[in-house]
Amino acid sequence: MISSGLEFLLVLCGLELSWSCPRHCICYSAPTTVSCQAHNFLSVPEGIPLDSERIFLQNNKIHRLLRGHFSSNTVTLWIYSNNITYIEPTTFHGFTLLEELDLGDNRHLRSLAEDTFHGLSRLNALHLYRCGLSSLPNNIFQGLRNLQYLYLQDNHLKFLQDDTFVDLRNLSHLFLHGNRLWSLNQNTFRGLRALDRLLLHQNQIESVDHQAFHDLKRLTTLYLFNNSLIQLSGDCLDTLPGLEYLRLNDNPWSCDCKALSLWEWLKRFRGSTSSVGCQAPVDMIGKDLKELRKEDFPNCSPTVPNSESRAQTNNVSGTVNPSLHRGGVVGSVGQTHVVHPSRPGRSRNCTKPRNRGKGKGDNEVHHSKEVMADKEDSSPDFTDGGKHDHTSPDGTVTRRKQKCIPRTTVRPPSGVQQANNRATLSQTQSCRANKEP
Ligand SMILES: *[C@@H]1O[C@H](CO)[C@@H](O)[C@H](O)[C@H]1NC(C)=O
Ligand SMILES: *[C@@H]1O[C@H](CO)[C@@H](O)[C@H](O)[C@H]1NC(C)=O
Ligand SMILES: *[C@@H]1O[C@H](CO)[C@@H](O)[C@H](O)[C@H]1NC(C)=O
Ligand SMILES: *[C@@H]1O[C@H](CO)[C@@H](O)[C@H](O)[C@H]1NC(C)=O
Ligand SMILES: *[C@@H]1O[C@H](CO)[C@@H](O)[C@H](O)[C@H]1NC(C)=O
Repeated sequence: MISSGLEFLLVLCGLELSWSCPRHCICYSAPTTVSCQAHNFLSVPEGIPLDSERIFLQNNKIHRLLRGHFSSNTVTLWIYSNNITYIEPTTFHGFTLLEELDLGDNRHLRSLAEDTFHGLSRLNALHLYRCGLSSLPNNIFQGLRNLQYLYLQDNHLKFLQDDTFVDLRNLSHLFLHGNRLWSLNQNTFRGLRALDRLLLHQNQIESVDHQAFHDLKRLTTLYLFNNSLIQLSGDCLDTLPGLEYLRLNDNPWSCDCKALSLWEWLKRFRGSTSSVGCQAPVDMIGKDLKELRKEDFPNCSPTVPNSESRAQTNNVSGTVNPSLHRGGVVGSVGQTHVVHPSRPGRSRNCTKPRNRGKGKGDNEVHHSKEVMADKEDSSPDFTDGGKHDHTSPDGTVTRRKQKCIPRTTVRPPSGVQQANNRATLSQTQSCRANKEP
C-alpha cells in the first residue's frame, strides 16, 4: 500500500530503483525511512536499505547491535524498548549524520564502551534512560558538541566522573533523576555553559561541592527534591544567575544555624521555589524554612560573606586538609560508598558531612514519606519515560521560550504515522505535526 504507492510514484519520476525493504517492515521515502517497530524482532532485520535516513526499531526484542547493522547515512535511529544487552563499540563509528539516537528502556544494557558515541558530531539527542547503567566510562560523551538533550534518568548511576560532560557545550537538558547519585563534585558539571534544565531529583544526594554549579550560568531549572540533603549553602546557588525554578522539597533539611545561608538566599531569590520542609531540629519539624523569620535563628553567627568564600575556593591549592577529606570508603551500617579518587581542590562543600552513625536510607526514607503529605510535588514532571520530554509540557514549572507549543504525548507513540510526525518535528523543529503521505 504505502510502499507500492511510493514505488509507483518513484517509478513515475523515473528514478532508478533498487527498492528493497526488510520483511515485516514498512519503507518509504522523503526522507527515506524504514519502520520495523513492534514485531518481535530478535535481531536487527537484514536488508535495511543503505540510504535509509530514519530507522525505527522500537518495541522489539533485539539483543545486540553490531557494526554493519546500519549504514552511516542514518540520521534518526530509534531502538528504545528492546532487550539490548550488548552494543559493539564500533556500531556507530563514522555516523557523522546521526542526529537522534534513542537507546532508552533497554534495561539489561548495563554498560557501554567508552568510544561508542565518538565521532557523532551532529548528534542532537541521546536517549539512555532506563538502561540499567551503573556507571559511565570516562570520556563517553567526548566530542558531542551538538548534543542538546541527554537522557540518563532511571539508571543506577552512583557517581559521575569529573568532566564527564565537559565537551557538551550545547547541552540544554540534562536528565539525571531516578539514579543513586550521592555527591556532586566541583567538576561534575564543568563545561555545561548552555544548560537550561538540570534534573537531579530522586537521587540520594547529600553532598554538593561549593563550586558544583559554577559553569551553569544559563540554568533556569534545577530539581533537587527527594534527595538526602541536610543543608545547602546559599553560596552554592549564588553561582546560578539565570535560575528561575528550584525544587528542594523532600530532603531531610536541618533548620538550625546550618540553614541560615539558604534561608537568606531564599529571601533574595526572585524565582519560584518549592517548600523546604524542616526535619530537624525537633522543634522545627514540619515547618517550611521559607516561612521562618530571622528570630527563628537565635545565636547563629552571621554567614560567611561571599567574597571571602569565593576567594578561598578560587585559589585551589594542591592539598586537601585530611580532616576535611572523606577518605577512601565511607561506611555506614549496611552500606558503603566507594569514593573515587578525588582531585585536589575538592575541599569545599555546600553541604556538611552528616553524622553517619546509622545507615542512611531506611529511617529517612520512611520519615520523608510521612512528611510527604503537603505535596506541591505530587507530580514530578519528568519522572516517567523520557521519550518526548523535550517537547512535552512541563506543567507546573517550566515554560518554553520561543519553542514549540507543548504537546501532551508522554508515552512513545506507536504506529508509523505518529513516529513520522515526531521525527518530522525533531528534524524540522517545526511546531506543527506534519503528516507524511
Ligand atoms: C532480556 O535479556 C536478558 C539478558 O540476556 C534475559 O535474562 C531476559 O530474559 C530477556 N528478556 C526478554 C523479555 O527477552
Ligand atoms: C552549538 O554551539 C555552537 C557554538 O558553541 C553554535 O554555533 C551552534 O549553532 C550550536 N548548535 C546548536 C544545534 O545549537
Ligand atoms: C524518592 O526517590 C526514591 C528513589 O531514590 C523513590 O523510591 C521514592 O519513591 C521517592 N519518593 C517520593 C516521595 O517521590
Ligand atoms: C593562592 O594562594 C597562594 C598562597 O596563599 C598565593 O601565593 C597565590 O598567589 C594564590 N593564587 C591565586 C591565583 O590567588
Ligand atoms: C564534603 O562532603 C564530604 C561528603 O559529605 C565530606 O566527607 C567532606 O568532609 C566535606 N568537606 C568539607 C570541606 O566539608
